[in-house]
Amino acid sequence: MNSSFRVTALLLCMGPLVSVLAEPVPDLTATLKAAFTDKRQATLDRLDQDETQKLCTQLRDQVPTSELSQKITRMNLATVKPPADGKYLGDWKAGEVVASTGTGLQSSDDPAKPNGGNCYACHELAPTEMAYGTLGPSLKHYGKLRGQDPAVLAYAWSMVYNSNSYAPCSNMPRFGHRGILTEQQMKDVMAYLFDAASPVNQ
Ligand code: HEC
Repeated sequence: MNSSFRVTALLLCMGPLVSVLAEPVPDLTATLKAAFTDKRQATLDRLDQDETQKLCTQLRDQVPTSELSQKITRMNLATVKPPADGKYLGDWKAGEVVASTGTGLQSSDDPAKPNGGNCYACHELAPTEMAYGTLGPSLKHYGKLRGQDPAVLAYAWSMVYNSNSYAPCSNMPRFGHRGILTEQQMKDVMAYLFDAASPVNQ
């Protein structure tokens, strides 16, 4: 086989691959919008990405530069509102309900009922709870290990309010920023993390 034949054979084999790669990538948002309809509180405007989500989609599968990571965290940290009365901790018992409730915002959910935080879907919390997801780090003994220094409380509040304030492109829902949980629910779930009497810290 002479070398020009080999090159031609190679190009012939690559032809179909090159043409597949040259196909325009379909607009995913348009495809999704065409495939779904608004259903009660689950409306299609949820598919409209904000600036953070657009940046994170562009960065998919790449390691973001530290400049971009900082841009995302700065932008999201600016959205975080501390509790109006300055108190980060509510009632851990109410927080346990928030952490273990996985309903809210789906078309089949009753919009009159409070949304859940579904924290157990991604985190280990109370060591007595056997069913939990592992997408997020374990939060077992969260307060016991960290104490209640104001800086520690402010950091955890920011993570619950808007996870992208410290973890750029995090998978964790931005509970306060997107209005998923109320201020009181976030205080309660904070108490569930930090209160010495909470099952999380036993
Ligand atoms: C869809 C998955 C998911 C859900 C649901 C979720 N988290 Fe997270 N969480 C994460 C991930 C992932 C991280 C780690 C940050 C990162 O790398 O994105 C994290 C980090 C955290 C941290 C910071 C931990 C640290 O390093 O100190 C706290 C606090 C936290 N989550 C609390 C909660 C609470 C409270 C809830 C429920 C109201 C919750 N999370 C729901 C995925 C989730």
